[in-house]
Amino acid sequence: MYRGRRLRILENIRELTRETRVSKKSLIYPMFIEEGSGIVKEIPSMPGQFRYSTDTMIDKLKDVLSWGVTSVMFFGIPKEKDEVGSGAYDPHGIVQEALRIAKKEVPEITYIGDVCMCEYTSHGHCGIACEHTVDNDKTLPLLCKTAVTQVEAGADMVAPSDMMDGRIEAIREALDEAGYYNTPIMSYAAKYASAFYGPFRDAAGSDGFKGDRKSYQMDYHNRRQAVMEAVSDIEEGADIIMVKPALAYLDIIRELKDITDVPVAAYSVSGEYSMIKMGAKAGVIDEKEIIAETAISIFRAGADILITYFAKEIAEMIDRGEIG
Ligand code: PBG
Repeated sequence: MYRGRRLRILENIRELTRETRVSKKSLIYPMFIEEGSGIVKEIPSMPGQFRYSTDTMIDKLKDVLSWGVTSVMFFGIPKEKDEVGSGAYDPHGIVQEALRIAKKEVPEITYIGDVCMCEYTSHGHCGIACEHTVDNDKTLPLLCKTAVTQVEAGADMVAPSDMMDGRIEAIREALDEAGYYNTPIMSYAAKYASAFYGPFRDAAGSDGFKGDRKSYQMDYHNRRQAVMEAVSDIEEGADIIMVKPALAYLDIIRELKDITDVPVAAYSVSGEYSMIKMGAKAGVIDEKEIIAETAISIFRAGADILITYFAKEIAEMIDRGEIG
């Protein structure tokens, strides 16, 4: 008889024989920075998450550091949007300014810039709009400019989330040419067109966006296509690949982990966060237990890095020895 229970009877032995270990150093906390001052605005669709301005974000960054979390990703919310999303690549755009200040005030943190145009375009698409879609090749130079200005401003890493083809090669070349050959690129390699981004649209001020992103983000019926995306991004120079969303895509995380050798990140997105928050508010699930179980499932699937709005809760559970 296989007596699997031998390793389950005592808590110490259960902990001793765990197959998945987690560290606070594997977490990235996403933050929304809005142009203006004195802003600490709760995001209605994401209770517990806030928009900050560059002055109020400093205390929040110190908080993040006090949780033991040392990586942060910035999304920007500009005052003005236009057809070409010029706020994304403005050397004094909101993310660039936030990076400059954050790097100076809280230099212990690693800052990752989200490279995309959707928060900055009036039409809400992730690049230069044309007819019903986005013009891939016209968007590439703007993504390059966005990445270079972010790194100039202090970004330690850039994370392109636009899903244009050939962007990793273009951005790698642009960074190298600017002398930033040591700056890593974390590619949103397998990013699916997903309803799980719903609450983010509210958070990032693109709630007016009416269309969909199915002509550039991936179709969730596909797994082998994720392999193609990941392999081509790695060939183009991606240092880290990402799967997004996380929870409904654990098979993709495992697949990419098995067939590649670069670190695999998973982005547990706004919808995953809000479902747990709202479910807990309604009293139908235990918030802490569900956060722990879902986070561990993502690491168990093969993620090396977890981008999560629950960074604080996960860090606290690690500190208390409840997970990991
Ligand atoms: C695009 C971007 C999105 C998210 C991160 N980057 C939204 C989208 O593609 O529609 C979603 C993140 C989340 O839902 O938490 N710049």
